[in-house]
Amino acid sequence: MNRRYRKTVIAGNWKMNLTLTETQTFAEELRPLLSRSKWCDVVLCVPAINIPNAVRLFKNTRVAIAAQNVHYEDHGAFTGELSARMLREQGVKYVIIGHSERRQYYNETDFTVNRKVHAALAEGINPIVCVGESLEQRELGVTLEHITYQVKAALSGVPAEKVRKIILAYEPIWAIGTGKTATTQQAEEVCQAIRTVVRKLYDARIARAVTIQYGGSMNTKNAAELLAQPDVDGGLIGGASLKAADFAEIINAANQE
Ligand code: 13P
Repeated sequence: MNRRYRKTVIAGNWKMNLTLTETQTFAEELRPLLSRSKWCDVVLCVPAINIPNAVRLFKNTRVAIAAQNVHYEDHGAFTGELSARMLREQGVKYVIIGHSERRQYYNETDFTVNRKVHAALAEGINPIVCVGESLEQRELGVTLEHITYQVKAALSGVPAEKVRKIILAYEPIWAIGTGKTATTQQAEEVCQAIRTVVRKLYDARIARAVTIQYGGSMNTKNAAELLAQPDVDGGLIGGASLKAADFAEIINAANQE
């Protein structure tokens, strides 16, 4: 973290978990635990159907509500999809784009990721763009090349004044839902490399200002150590964001001096 130059953002990605009833319980449990959070922004990426209720439940708290996906067109014959404007009108502030699960199961490509980034920015929604290597890519030694390609593709055509609105989330695929976390060195190495890509594409000031998260089995035990890395500016948390007490503990880890 480096709070002098950029925001620390702790985001929970609920994926296809927590019903409306469970969301209500979570909100009741989290609210009293949030009072101590001072430094970091908090985001919850909830299932789309629960967005309006989540916005209402977290009104007047530090928690911003996010979507887990968005379509790149602004309207049209795209059965089952949601546009950035629809999300914005419901109070959505962030949207996850290019999560590895969507790349793997729903045909998300670097091209659609880039189009979605532009669509979200056009509506003033902050994209949380996920990048990450597979185990095979890590073992082949091509992690940084792969990440560089993904970041460049995602940012293609994004003007300098909009880059700060984007959060880049490094999520090694082999660490997601596996209980296998990247070491602090691995997380820092890739997050630093991502910042270098941004610097080369834009400039040092923009690179310094951009928030880069780590995601992949981040939990109450390893969060503080990961967040202590200079280029890890937050977390994108799956499993450990489903329990209010655990999520609050990670937020507090990001709020340490
Ligand atoms: P886990 O924290 O469950 O590994 O999930 C990480 C993730 O994919 C967040 O987007």
